[in-house]
Amino acid sequence: MWEGAKIRLVPMCVEKHCDNYVEWMNGDGVGDWMIMSELPTTWHEMKVWLEKRGSIKNEARFAIETLDGRHVGSASLQQIDWFNRTAISGLFIGPTAERGKGYGLDAAMVRSKYAFEVLGLRMIYSEVLADNVAIISLLEKIGYKKCGCKPAFIWKRGEFKDVTILALSKEDWESTGCAG
Ligand SMILES: CC(C)(COP(=O)(O)OP(=O)(O)OC[C@H]1O[C@@H](n2cnc3c(N)ncnc32)[C@H](O)[C@@H]1OP(=O)(O)O)[C@@H](O)C(=O)NCCC(=O)NCCS
Repeated sequence: MWEGAKIRLVPMCVEKHCDNYVEWMNGDGVGDWMIMSELPTTWHEMKVWLEKRGSIKNEARFAIETLDGRHVGSASLQQIDWFNRTAISGLFIGPTAERGKGYGLDAAMVRSKYAFEVLGLRMIYSEVLADNVAIISLLEKIGYKKCGCKPAFIWKRGEFKDVTILALSKEDWESTGCAG
């Protein structure tokens, strides 16, 4: 269990998290911004997906819970490349009412600490819709730097949208003071 000032990162499980993920992934608040297919996610599909997570050894996916145990989102390190020591990071806060309370920032800070200090990674990347000012601002706050663009990369809500790539090196993370 990985804990920050406001949240903790816990392993995902079907019993506690499946219903919420199905609701959030299919809702506009999260679905509008995710770099994933426009197809709806069924409960069964999500259950099977969650059950598989434990056996996949190149990713670390967590549910985000508040310190009093409410499930509010998800934070991940995916496509971990153990040879080059890199990963792709993902993050969302599901319920609209839980956004803007500092949970996303705290989760991203705990995730970075886990990536660099526990997994021994060297660099983490994030790929986000170019017009997602909230996540770009959050990531830049903890040291990520924009490093590229994939023009018209994702079909999202009726148009092809640009994707911005951001990167956080261990050195940049340490220099933000987030390393503690
Ligand atoms: C983007 C997201 C992860 C931010 O998490 P959050 O808990 O709402 O954000 P926080 O309260 O921790 O805010 C941290 C910083 O993020 C930025 N931020 C958050 N919401 C913002 C908004 N609506 N507009 C601009 N910047 C915003 C700000 O820099 C903020 O710092 P500040 O409070 O000092 O201004 C969350 O709102 C979310 O999941 N949104 C929908 C899905 C999504 O976009 N996911 C990410 C891409 S898949």
